[in-house]
Amino acid sequence: MALLEVEDLVVRFYTEGGVVRAVDGLSYTLDRGERLGVVGESGAGKTAAALAVLGLLDESGRIEGEIRFDGESLTAADDDRLQAIRGGRIGTVFQDPEAALNPVYTVGEQIAEAVRTHTDRDGAAANDRAVALLDRVGIPDPATRADQYPHEFSGGMAQRALVAMALAGDPDLLIADEPTTGLDVTVQAQLLELLDDLATADLAVQLVSHDLGVVAEFCDRVLVLYAGQAVERAPVDDLFYEPKHPYTAGLLRSVPRIGDSRDRLSALSGTTPDLSAPPPGCRFHPRCPYAEDACTKHDPPLAATDDSGVHRAACLAYTGDLSGELTFSVDVVDDDGGADGGDSR
Ligand SMILES: Nc1ncnc2c1ncn2[C@@H]1O[C@H](COP(=O)(O)OP(=O)(O)O)[C@@H](O)[C@H]1O
Ligand SMILES: [Mg+2]
Repeated sequence: MALLEVEDLVVRFYTEGGVVRAVDGLSYTLDRGERLGVVGESGAGKTAAALAVLGLLDESGRIEGEIRFDGESLTAADDDRLQAIRGGRIGTVFQDPEAALNPVYTVGEQIAEAVRTHTDRDGAAANDRAVALLDRVGIPDPATRADQYPHEFSGGMAQRALVAMALAGDPDLLIADEPTTGLDVTVQAQLLELLDDLATADLAVQLVSHDLGVVAEFCDRVLVLYAGQAVERAPVDDLFYEPKHPYTAGLLRSVPRIGDSRDRLSALSGTTPDLSAPPPGCRFHPRCPYAEDACTKHDPPLAATDDSGVHRAACLAYTGDLSGELTFSVDVVDDDGGADGGDSR
C-alpha cells in the first residue's frame, strides 16, 4: 500500500466569477521514502492539490474524490484528526517563510509548541527538542538562535526553521510547496541539499515547484499538471530526457540555460486557460502544435506510452486517436551539464 493515495481528486473554488475547477480528476500515489515532484506553470492547481491533501483549503474550496494517508481516509477525517495528522505525520513547508512564522514569539518557542502538540514531549524536553531540530536543519549556534525572533532570521534561515518545525512530529511525509522560490540561488541550493539530506527511506517528500531544475535535481518521479489535470507522469530521467506530452516538451524548452541565446519563452506560447471555463477536449489543445480536430472533442486519459506503463501521458497520440506523430525537439542537459542540442524524437 502506498503511503499517500489520491484518487480522482476534484477541487472547486466557488467565486463570484463562477466555479473554478482548480484540480480536475487527479490521481497519484506516493510511496514511503519516495520523492515526487509536482510541476506545472502558475495556476496549474499544484497548490490547490497540496492544500486538499492537508485539509487546508479555504472556505470557498470544496473537494471530491478520495485521499488516503497510510490507509486512512483524510477526506472522511474530522478537523481534529486532520490537525493531528498535519504537522504530525505530514509536515509542511510553504513559500514565504517570514509569513509562516509568528513575529511575536521566538523561533524556539514556535518549534517547541509544534513539538508539544505532536509528540509527548513537554516543558524543557520540548525546548531541548526545538534546539536539536534547529541543529538538525543546519542552523549554527542553535541554542542562541532559538531565543531569537523571526525578524532576526534571514530568509534562508527562516525557511530552515520552518523545515525544523515541519520535522517536529517526526513525519513520514513532507509536503513542500515552492520551498525555494524567492530565495537567492545559493540559499536555494543549500536548502535543497538539506531536503536531500533529510529525505530518506523514512521520509517521503512531495515537492511542488514551477522550477523544473529543482525537480530534476531532487525527485525520483514527476507529475506534470496542466490546468488542474495530470498530463504526464514518469520517473524523473524519463521525463526530462524523453518527454511524451507536448506540454512537458514545451516546458522543458522554456527552461533558460546559461549561454543560451535563444528566446526560450517562445517555446511555449499562450497562457493557461481560465479554469472556470476550460476549453473542451484536451485542455492543452489551443496551445498545442500537434492538435487535431479530435483534440478539441476528447479529453485524453493518462495513458501508458510504453509497455511497462510507467511513463504515462494524457495525449490522444497514445490512445491511437491522433493521426500525426509527436516528434519533439528538446534540449536535454547531458552529464557534463551542457546541452546536447536539439535532440529530435
Ligand atoms: N482560494 C481560491 N479561490 C478561488 N480560486 C482559487 C483559489 N486558490 C486558487 N484558485 C485558482 O485555482 C487555480 C489553481 O491555483 P493554484 O493551485 O494556486 O495553482 P499553482 O499552485 O499551480 O500555481 C487558479 O486558477 C487559481 O486562480
Ligand atoms: Mg502554487
